[in-house]
Amino acid sequence: MPEHAFTDAERRAVYRVINERRDMRRFTPDRTVAAPVLARLLAAAHAAPSVGLMQPWRFIRITDRGLRHKIHALVDEERRQTADALGSRAEEFLALKVEGILDCAELLVVALSAGRDAHVFGRRTMPHMDLASVSCAVENLWLAARAEGLGMGWVSIFEPAGLAELLNMPDGAEPVAILCLGPVPDFPDRPALEIDEWTVGRPLTEFVSENSWR
Ligand SMILES: Cc1cc2nc3c(=O)[nH]c(=O)nc-3n(C[C@H](O)[C@H](O)[C@H](O)COP(=O)(O)O)c2cc1C
Repeated sequence: MPEHAFTDAERRAVYRVINERRDMRRFTPDRTVAAPVLARLLAAAHAAPSVGLMQPWRFIRITDRGLRHKIHALVDEERRQTADALGSRAEEFLALKVEGILDCAELLVVALSAGRDAHVFGRRTMPHMDLASVSCAVENLWLAARAEGLGMGWVSIFEPAGLAELLNMPDGAEPVAILCLGPVPDFPDRPALEIDEWTVGRPLTEFVSENSWR
């Protein structure tokens, strides 16, 4: 065992949270997330790695019920546009539950910060490394939430300009995630999109190669 390894129990906990994290769309209504728990989750997100240590994230907590409804309307509009774009699978898509915005205990919007052009280190050839960094923060939050017994759902079905306007974001800032967070009735043991027979995940062996793409 390498000298800096965690104990057996700690390692089991790490792999357990990775394997038992799920994207959640069904939340137990009328519940809350205790303030110290929310603070721990945001600290976990902020502990994420970021390209050139640019920390290109912003987390906006939505506490105004009216604003939550406006965000839900924005998502529902894009849900319909997505259905139109899907053509023959439109009805099947509309039957899926793809967000839990009105029922979750906490709603967060995660955005790329403004002024990102100033950060060149690690992004000269790949400017999208800022988005990769924000994604690391969201995954940290997702895993920490699961360990706290809370579900989280990443909603990306929205028109970013509309959400940016709704939340008074400055030029250059870009919303990338609406996060639904809170107590859930249960955690399914596989992705909802598999349970709902939308698609199936493929095994790791199809994604790993040596020395070359093939
Ligand atoms: C970047 C990103 C955006 C996503 N957007 C949505 C979304 O808008 N609505 C939704 O229901 N699920 C969304 N998901 C969740 C995925 O559908 C889910 O992660 C995938 O089906 C695997 O399921 P699991 O997370 O439970 O393992 C998103 C996930 C990621 C990583």
